[in-house]
Amino acid sequence: MSNLVIAVDGPAGAGKSTIAKLIASKLNIIYIDTGAMYRALTYKLINENIDLKDISKIIDVLKDTEIDFKNNHIYLDGKIVDDKIRTNDISNNVSIVARIKEVREKLVNIQRKISKNNDVIMDGRDIASHVLPDANLKFYINATPKERGKRRYEEIIKRDPSVSLSDIIQEVKVRDEIDSTREISPLIKTKDAIEIDTTDKSIEEVVQVLLDYIKDNI
Ligand code: C5P
Repeated sequence: MSNLVIAVDGPAGAGKSTIAKLIASKLNIIYIDTGAMYRALTYKLINENIDLKDISKIIDVLKDTEIDFKNNHIYLDGKIVDDKIRTNDISNNVSIVARIKEVREKLVNIQRKISKNNDVIMDGRDIASHVLPDANLKFYINATPKERGKRRYEEIIKRDPSVSLSDIIQEVKVRDEIDSTREISPLIKTKDAIEIDTTDKSIEEVVQVLLDYIKDNI
């Protein structure tokens, strides 16, 4: 593999995407937010009132769905849906959609295609273990569930003042549980991944730790 490939995994709200995006801009490489892809499909399904228990219907919709991530934007059927995919409703349903085999196969193919022949940093749940197992560097970004819930709460409260911190912490825990116990490509820390606990660290500190690792190991 001649291009630079960095995998970033970790649970919800650990700060993966903020950190990966900053690293991408510092190193002038492509950032790929795989969570945004699962969210985009979930947005479409909810918008079309599809029953999320109806797997064959979801697979039908999937066949007719185009998802792409480029220039830091998520595209659903050719349209940018950056803001639409961040609602609490989508956060609370995305893990149900993301555990479907056919959904994962399609999105993983897209993810691998984008990273082929490009220098990339990709974040998600199964990047080091499944999508890009040959990545040059693998990071596992973590924080306590309380801290991760707090970060999500501070993001969501700006749009929805009715949410409570304890509900958000609980929702983050439920999502982690589904993501890390599902049958196909569950969230795991691979043996070769460098784990970074961001609980008491600022974003700048974490970015610097990653940049130092990258500089020393590439
Ligand atoms: O990263 P983000 O929190 O936006 O991801 C949303 C959801 O998408 C995760 O909770 C998980 O269910 C799913 N996901 C996944 N595999 C990935 C990235 C995200 O299953 N590589």
